[in-house]
Amino acid sequence: MPVRSSSEGILADERAEARAELIEMLKKAYFMEVETVMSYITNSINPDGVRAQEIVESLQQDIQEELGHAQQFAHRIKELYGVVPGSLEFTPEQSYLQPPAEQTDIVHVIKGVIEAETGAIEHYNALIDATDETDPVTNDMVIAILRDEEGHRRLFEGYLREYEVEGKA
Ligand SMILES: [Fe+2]
Repeated sequence: MPVRSSSEGILADERAEARAELIEMLKKAYFMEVETVMSYITNSINPDGVRAQEIVESLQQDIQEELGHAQQFAHRIKELYGVVPGSLEFTPEQSYLQPPAEQTDIVHVIKGVIEAETGAIEHYNALIDATDETDPVTNDMVIAILRDEEGHRRLFEGYLREYEVEGKA
């Protein structure tokens, strides 16, 4: 049987332009996840103190989840005939997740995580909108990832509330 290329959906030859736009959005998502992995490693190790323990353990678990997201975005880039970008294309953006002046400043970390998750949620909603009628596979994948990010933000909003109740935020 001859090899045939797809003539339908996002993989169709005539959809090359739409695909290129989508790949750019997926690259951004991929780098967001990779930077989050870096920031969560940092912030799961630096904090000092008894109070930091729950945050540290929570972030340790999330590192693997965020790494999994990065790999999913990278795979989807390739499936859409794109090339997963190299590290030299990476530009850091997470100023809010840099180490605080004091390593007991857990509120800084909690607020940084909420900020990072909010950025991801915004971009993934845009990706879901962009693929709603054109690419059900990417759409489905990003919806599942969005759920993880929403759950994670909700968890950290709860941590922040606890600190605010105690008047430490
Ligand atoms: Fe993620």
